[in-house]
Amino acid sequence: MSILGIDEITYGAADLDTCRRFFADWGLKLVQDADQRLVFESLNGCRVLVADPAHASLPAAIEDGPTLREVVWGVSDTETMSVLRERMMRKPGYVDSGTRIGCTDPNGFAVRFQVSVKRALQVRGTPANTWDQRPRVDEPGTIYERATPIEVGHVVFFVPDLAATEAFYAELGFVASDRYPGRGAFMRCAPRGGHHDLFLLSTPDGKRGLNHVAFTVRDIHEVFGGGLAVSRCGWETQLGPGRHPISSAYFWYFRNPAGGLIEYYADEDELTEAWVARDFEPGPTIFAEWAVDGGIDGHTRRQKGRQNDGKFLTDKPH
Ligand SMILES: [Fe+2]
Repeated sequence: MSILGIDEITYGAADLDTCRRFFADWGLKLVQDADQRLVFESLNGCRVLVADPAHASLPAAIEDGPTLREVVWGVSDTETMSVLRERMMRKPGYVDSGTRIGCTDPNGFAVRFQVSVKRALQVRGTPANTWDQRPRVDEPGTIYERATPIEVGHVVFFVPDLAATEAFYAELGFVASDRYPGRGAFMRCAPRGGHHDLFLLSTPDGKRGLNHVAFTVRDIHEVFGGGLAVSRCGWETQLGPGRHPISSAYFWYFRNPAGGLIEYYADEDELTEAWVARDFEPGPTIFAEWAVDGGIDGHTRRQKGRQNDGKFLTDKPH
């Protein structure tokens, strides 16, 4: 029984022209463009679909406006599919096409599973030289001109009923990594793996919807290089770059014309069965150890909106 990660996500968004441009700038490859539907791929074959909101293929939306409509999780084998079929078949909205099964989660969102079609991929992040370990020898660190994301690493939803939604995913095999008790649950799709594949967030106003989708890149330098490139293309930073104390990952969030926020991230914690979920109080310093408000200007490569906008600090007359 092994759920591996996210194989495919589908957005419903009316402005396909803007979304086509955005996801190309984000570093994805457009592999299909027909019938009011765009299909993009990341490096390992993880698929990102954007379809007109009225497209017949789309499950129901959980909020108004452009948003995520479906997540397909990849599993290791048909035995896992059989286990999940047994666990899901009495759930609301159960569907089974033979190769893909799914249902509706307690948030009203369409969750699906298939045997993963992602490709095994050999890419190398830049090793960091620390005091005690020097893996990068006679090799300068990488500077990325843009990001080419490896895959969709996690999705984050606003959920009015946190307890029911966490219990639903736990029953399917997800494991809690950390929690904001009563307010949020970070979950990974298998006992061994990255810190979270799914984060469920409850707000006092009972909001339901998409918060963000995060794309895994190779290393911190690709977070920075990718963010600078997306910024140069004119897209707006929501927050970042920065670093999360929970998960330890570096992040950079942008606003996504297909719905919610979108994130580059790297260097998250890797967990095993031995990990004990921690409880945290939500707050700004637990969300971000540090973060750049408004982002970094892709041209000046300095904080956006600073007085010296348009010039490097080193351009100042002496
Ligand atoms: Fe995230």
